[in-house]
Amino acid sequence: MTKKIAVLPGDGIGPEIIAEAVKVLEHLRTDGLDIEMNEAPVGGAGYEASGKPLPDDTLALAKASDAILLGAVGGYQWESLDISVRPEKGLLGLRAELELFSNLRPAILYKQLADASTLKPEVVSGLDILIVRELTGGIYFGQPRGIRILENGEKQGFNTLVYSESEIERIGRSAFDIAMKRGKKLCSVDKANVLECTELWREVMERVSKDYPEVELSHMYVDNAAMQLVRAPKQFDVMVTTNMFGDILSDCAAMLTGSIGMLPSASLDANGKGMYEPIHGSAPDIAGKNVANPLATILSVAMMLRYSLNEIAMADRIEKAVENVLDQGLRTADIDSEGMQKVSTSEMGDAVVSAL
Ligand code: IPM
Ligand code: MG
Repeated sequence: MTKKIAVLPGDGIGPEIIAEAVKVLEHLRTDGLDIEMNEAPVGGAGYEASGKPLPDDTLALAKASDAILLGAVGGYQWESLDISVRPEKGLLGLRAELELFSNLRPAILYKQLADASTLKPEVVSGLDILIVRELTGGIYFGQPRGIRILENGEKQGFNTLVYSESEIERIGRSAFDIAMKRGKKLCSVDKANVLECTELWREVMERVSKDYPEVELSHMYVDNAAMQLVRAPKQFDVMVTTNMFGDILSDCAAMLTGSIGMLPSASLDANGKGMYEPIHGSAPDIAGKNVANPLATILSVAMMLRYSLNEIAMADRIEKAVENVLDQGLRTADIDSEGMQKVSTSEMGDAVVSAL
């Protein structure tokens, strides 16, 4: 049956990098991949088109699709809008409406890019971490929230950190399942020494671990986890954590590799439907210049084939093609170094298609 892919380029460099990922998908289609692609605006582009960062038609398309490929959202021109219609709300709305609670964020150091990291090579060489971030709960969505006026006239901002047992359990199971397919080591990150909500998080993780006796579960406070990530990152295999801690730690882990332009991500629901996007943002400063790195988006396509479309062989082919272009010495500006051949966004996309 033809699989439906919603293509949401978004803002900034989004359209340019998505164009290269679409080239890859078009190529695979000539090799027998049975897909239909439909494009729609989201983020700032959604706001311009309909006054909403997540237009109704875009949400309907996403709901009716088997997978979603997203570029990035956000830009300077929308920063002064009310928070309820800012581009980021488009992304948060998709996550919530589609119940994409399990966010997989790999941090892999490609051997060809060993010099890109700011850390010593021996600390990061061979790095391969997967952060599993809870994506539809916690302080990002907790109620009540807002800015209120106190009796003395002073303003007070407030947000709520909440997790129910079932929310913790499902992200826990998702992480344990993935740990089973990798090195069978799972580190759960919390702040159980201060926050009751994450005390419960730790308790539920322990409970879930009973069903996964082969997986070695450890716990770490988030401050220590941040420190350990830059001190000795190779001690980690899979990490599982809350929405906000995952937001912060995944940026930290991504930068260990020195090339955030290389890292894909997947956000999955309970049935394996997913949204796939590069970890980096919309980079408005370089938008429209044909210099952005499309590889994170192309690798997001590989994740989509693996997790939502069950086309494992094609996913492997994309990942090999990316290694191949790196071996050829092709580099976009963000990962360029001496002796390499600097290429544009579209040249990089074409090179991946040739390598396929
Ligand atoms: C991310 C981003 C988003 C988040 C923003 C753009 C809302 O930082 O995907 O990590 O905070 O989740
Ligand atoms: Mg983030």
